[in-house]
Amino acid sequence: MRPVLLPFLLGLCLNAEVVPTLQVDTRHPGAKVSPSLWGIFFEDINFGADGGLYAELVKNRSFEFPDALMGWKATGRAHLQVLEDRPGIPSNPHYLRLGAETSGAGVVNEGFRGMGIHQGESYAFKVMVRGSLPLKVELVAPDGHGLAEAMLPNGGGEWQWVRTTLVAKETVAKASLRLSALQAGEVDLDHVSLFPRHTWRERPEGLRADLVQALADMKPGVLRFPGGCIVEGRTLANRYEWKATLGAPESRSMKINRWNTEFKHRSAPDYFQSFGLGFLEYFQLAEDIGAEPLPILNCGMACQFNSGELAPLNQLDPYIQDALDLIAFANAPISAPWGAKRAALGHPAPFHLKRLGVGNEQWGPAYFERFARFAEALKKEHPEIELVAAAGPSPADDQFQAAWKAFRELKADIVDEHCYDRPDWFYQAVHRYDHYDRKGPKVFMGEYAAQSVGTGSTENRNTWACALAEAAFMTGLERNSDVVVMSSYAPLFGHVEAWQWRPDLIWMDNLKACRTANYWVQFLFSRNRGEVVIPVRLEGAEEGQTWVSATRVGQELVLKVAHAGAQPRRLRLEAPGLKPGQAVAITLKGQDGDENTLEDPDRVVPETRSLSIGADFQYLFPARSLTVLRLPLK
Ligand code: AHR
Repeated sequence: MRPVLLPFLLGLCLNAEVVPTLQVDTRHPGAKVSPSLWGIFFEDINFGADGGLYAELVKNRSFEFPDALMGWKATGRAHLQVLEDRPGIPSNPHYLRLGAETSGAGVVNEGFRGMGIHQGESYAFKVMVRGSLPLKVELVAPDGHGLAEAMLPNGGGEWQWVRTTLVAKETVAKASLRLSALQAGEVDLDHVSLFPRHTWRERPEGLRADLVQALADMKPGVLRFPGGCIVEGRTLANRYEWKATLGAPESRSMKINRWNTEFKHRSAPDYFQSFGLGFLEYFQLAEDIGAEPLPILNCGMACQFNSGELAPLNQLDPYIQDALDLIAFANAPISAPWGAKRAALGHPAPFHLKRLGVGNEQWGPAYFERFARFAEALKKEHPEIELVAAAGPSPADDQFQAAWKAFRELKADIVDEHCYDRPDWFYQAVHRYDHYDRKGPKVFMGEYAAQSVGTGSTENRNTWACALAEAAFMTGLERNSDVVVMSSYAPLFGHVEAWQWRPDLIWMDNLKACRTANYWVQFLFSRNRGEVVIPVRLEGAEEGQTWVSATRVGQELVLKVAHAGAQPRRLRLEAPGLKPGQAVAITLKGQDGDENTLEDPDRVVPETRSLSIGADFQYLFPARSLTVLRLPLK
């Protein structure tokens, strides 16, 4: 906590200046703030899952990429052949036959843009082996020197798992994994896997602890997964199918990631989905971080920016059944088949699914028809589950209007709006929800992010100017808690060497993560959510530069003030019931172009101060800042 340097006046107004007031009507609390108002949106884009959150370090571990040796290369006098006869894992049938002409010949995996290895940490290695050739496994630095090594126990005539642990001698961002023969001979290898033992909650073969920690720290109210366009696929064959993501990770059939070559200028031909992070893990993650789970399912439509392929209406049943089964998987008691399946996978307790998205970012009549079919079937069996419908990619065009009209008629529970636009759009939209219909569907602002240059531009940056515009917009979401029930910034993660889309909330490399200015805005809103909206008005000044929302939690008034002016602004607070005493001010501020980066991660970070307040309270809000004030109430 930094010392207070009197950026504010306490209990006194010492000059004759007319100070505009924030009139806070604590006597007339408004709507309850939805516990899921501030959420997160996870999609496997930008190497968010494989190469990111999912801590596996070996790329193409099962030799299932179409270019079966992508990520692998021979070392020494080795011959590599990818075969599929008599596989160890029928659902991922390819395996590697390593032929070593001499001792030392072997094969190297490059990882996802290298492997991040931390000094002193243990790494769990495993591989399926057929054959008894003695092997050594090593972690190797880019210059070739060894970081860790172990001899593998010999395999036999049939496929079997062989395991060992490697302890790293150094921290290296771009290590590789080498398997080499200790004598000439031949051996079959499959599912070559390396995980840090230290993962989130130390779960074996789990998630990167630093990345989950960043999410948990936000205390998000909802976790939307698994996307995003990845739900839709470029074609229906490429869509996300949740059932295929359950069970032993080695048995989950790999698929191409739709972001692989989506953007030619940011192509990632080595981007596939192992589904090691599957639906059980998503539900578990939501539970761990205290967020409501919000799965989004394919509605029988491939991405309309790509093929737009449709499942004919008379062939929609399997898609609807997937949704019914998902509800059962999440919520059924263990005496029921899907509940028993969940228990067999290690989670007997239900996941308390309350909401389900039908389709991601779809639009047009074909979507409305399909949504109606889903709604009819799902509401019949599960009236308790709220359904989220999509309003397309734009927050205002004709398709958007048509979607709202259709979903009012269809009585959808919640409509998912998306917005990627310049910061100005966000300022102009602060009052967007003030006049929304209170009787229709509720709103999920399901994907939004201010774009410093323009939507889809590779030049976009996570600048403070963008984050502040989002903060102003978020005061409008909060004030309208009776209609806005969820929101999430998108996308969530970006790997600095493997991204397709920017800006992103959290950047990462193989070793560390960087929380952007936008992250801290989300963090502050989420951690200071409040329980009920308190009406607040700025009096004696044009709004234009300063946007406010207020909530109450217990005996505290929580004010959020996004001040976009180039000069500081002093405001007097008029709030009946304010109690003189100790308060807290949390400030986030910066220059417009400021960005947190992996090299300079703390350029824009919250500063917390405690302060004493008197009966008359004024506060000087810094230029270009977001301030959260937590003030005691009688
Ligand atoms: O967040 C990136 C993409 O933007 C999402 O996959 C999609 O829903 C939207 O178009």
